Amino acid sequence: MEQKWIDAFWEKIETKLSVVSPQVETCFPYTTDESGKYVAFQNVQWWTNGFWAGMMWLAYLGSKKEIYREIAIACEEELDQAFVDFSELHHDVGFMWLPSAVAHYRIEGDENAKKRGMHAATLLAGRFNVVAEYIRAWNEDCTGIAIIDCMMNLPLLYWASEETKDPRFKMIAMKHSDTVIKNFVREDGSVAHMVNFNPETGEVVSIPRGQGYASGSAWTRGQAWAIYGFVLGYIHTGKQEYLDTAKKVARYFIEHLSEDGVPVVDFKAPEEPALKDTSAGAVAACGLIEIIKYSEGSEKENYEYAVVNILKGLEHNCNFSLDEQSILQNGTERYHDTRGFHIPMIYGDYYLMEALLKLKGNHVLFW
Ligand code: GLY
Repeated sequence: MEQKWIDAFWEKIETKLSVVSPQVETCFPYTTDESGKYVAFQNVQWWTNGFWAGMMWLAYLGSKKEIYREIAIACEEELDQAFVDFSELHHDVGFMWLPSAVAHYRIEGDENAKKRGMHAATLLAGRFNVVAEYIRAWNEDCTGIAIIDCMMNLPLLYWASEETKDPRFKMIAMKHSDTVIKNFVREDGSVAHMVNFNPETGEVVSIPRGQGYASGSAWTRGQAWAIYGFVLGYIHTGKQEYLDTAKKVARYFIEHLSEDGVPVVDFKAPEEPALKDTSAGAVAACGLIEIIKYSEGSEKENYEYAVVNILKGLEHNCNFSLDEQSILQNGTERYHDTRGFHIPMIYGDYYLMEALLKLKGNHVLFW
């Protein structure tokens, strides 16, 4: 790949972060306000609250500047408040504690960070429905709902089994993954966002549209969560079916990617309105970079071409100004809510950085 371009792209981001990170410190950014300042969202349990710490760890690994490490650790400590009222917590504890506490533990072996990761893993394992074999999403009356995004929480369970040598966590992750293959992944390689099961029997009751255009459509960020989630499942378990599934969804994703490399919000939505989601591109790029390691010949070239195409498209959507705080612009939360169209979203910034750091040769696996 074009190493000089990758290095220069990373440099532009790190230069910006060196200015922005002391301004932000330990706030949990989600999107930005009109002046381009990062702002938090909802409560401390919000699912994206691990990404700023994760960005700080990525920046630290790429630059060795102590300031990033200090902010990452301060954010991790701040996030403890989310454990205090655990009833507000949900299936997304992997998104919250893998790039914060578990990254800290993986990089430095910090024992308190490990405890936080294990605490989160135990909460996630407790959400498993043993009859229907899925990890339930959210709280209250969502007893039958499982969602594709949760594939990215499973590495918390793989990590917990690797650390404790207790296979229970990994077993839950694999059972959930098998349920997803059976009920979410379609013949053409696209995936559903949500499935609503009967929680007593495991029968499929309905396929809600979720954050995509419609039931039966292909919400792009969901496709990206599946690509990255399944290849990670393969990395942690060696189960071939997970790699095959990651590749099946990846082929679908690449075939439907627009020429400019920036995914639309839903591959099965009408052409108009032409909504884009840069965050889906950033997540998919991370997954494809892992898939490349298990591919050869023209298949490998195809994935490499797609990664470069996506990252070039994302670069055109970056804001490198030092007067505003977010990096990647034009993410979209969901198809049917105009308030979240074409906004900066912290996980877009995070996964873009992760993809670039991987391509710079850093092999710390955060998931
Ligand atoms: N996990 C929620 C989303 O991707 O918007």
